[in-house]
Amino acid sequence: MRAFAIDRYSRIEDASFRELPDPSAAAGQVRVRVHAAAVNPADVKVITGRDGGRFLHAPRFPLVPGFDFSGAIDQVGAGVDGWSEGDAVFGFLPYARSNRQGSFAELVVVEAGAIGRKPAQATHAEAASAATVASTALQAMRDKARLRQGARVLINGASGGVGSYGVQIAKRLGAEVWGTCSAARIEHVEALGADRALDYRALKISDLDARFDVILDAAATASFGACRPVMSPGAGYVTTLPTPATLAGFLASLFSSQTVRFVVVKSRRADLDLIADWIDEGAVASVVDRTYPFEALPDALQAMAAGGVKGKIAVQMAPG
Ligand SMILES: NC(=O)c1ccc[n+]([C@@H]2O[C@H](COP(=O)([O-])OP(=O)(O)OC[C@H]3O[C@@H](n4cnc5c(N)ncnc54)[C@H](OP(=O)(O)O)[C@@H]3O)[C@@H](O)[C@H]2O)c1
Repeated sequence: MRAFAIDRYSRIEDASFRELPDPSAAAGQVRVRVHAAAVNPADVKVITGRDGGRFLHAPRFPLVPGFDFSGAIDQVGAGVDGWSEGDAVFGFLPYARSNRQGSFAELVVVEAGAIGRKPAQATHAEAASAATVASTALQAMRDKARLRQGARVLINGASGGVGSYGVQIAKRLGAEVWGTCSAARIEHVEALGADRALDYRALKISDLDARFDVILDAAATASFGACRPVMSPGAGYVTTLPTPATLAGFLASLFSSQTVRFVVVKSRRADLDLIADWIDEGAVASVVDRTYPFEALPDALQAMAAGGVKGKIAVQMAPG
């Protein structure tokens, strides 16, 4: 199979395309022919080995980066029920040191319970662009911060991958949603359904004249301490990236009704199927800023590293 790989932690420019052996589906697994992948900040962290990237992938070389994928099953392992060759599916590889594969390749092998049916209303690029970020937003707000209907939610970093889905999912779950983003992305965040979109450069969260039941710090720039003055009693704070301030916040929360959590996204069929249902009913959708052909993957990664992406960047391996 053709794959994009690194031989050591390095720069994006040092990665290269090459032929690697095709993987095979073992018992309980399926092999997916990747039609599209999506780019995440984690891919840049894995390639450079910085910002915790060494903990997101097995440190074995050649290392193929990439987590999100959408494609079609082309091999079914022994004992797998419910999936057949040709089924269109989407998902993401584990963010863990046990993960020895990457979705920047023509084939991936995954546990049968860790993929969902591809939404019929989405292209492969749109489905791949939903996998990690929609699962993260859902698991962060519903499971970690106990979002309930009627809650008021603040999403810090509402214009990026996690935030763009976060706004839509929180609305789908019946919340009032406020989001922060750069001034250039305010219209985008409002178009996603946010009740209020605020420029993070012109804002101090603790000065907001509102109380929030859930705060999702998707950008990982607002600590629990900074958010606490605007959190209601019993509110939940959840971040995508633990920092020393997260630990301090966790300790402080032990003496309050408020909770501090860190989300580690898990690829679960039930969540992916729910996200696919929401996409098909038109309640949520991927925002794909740009789609690059597979050969232009280095440009896609550079664009992600540069920041300011509206939603997601996708990579197309095969038509569809
Ligand atoms: N723990 C997990 O399971 C998990 C899962 C997924 C992602 N993550 C991590 O979560 C983080 C966000 O992921 P993503 O995919 O959403 O990234 P992204 O697409 O790059 O989005 C980043 C967001 O942060 C905003 N931002 C930048 N600087 C900010 C600031 N000073 N204050 C407030 N917002 C700011 C950006 O706004 P503008 O573009 O408008 O400037 C954008 O909305 C990354 O570190 C990623 O690795 C963790």
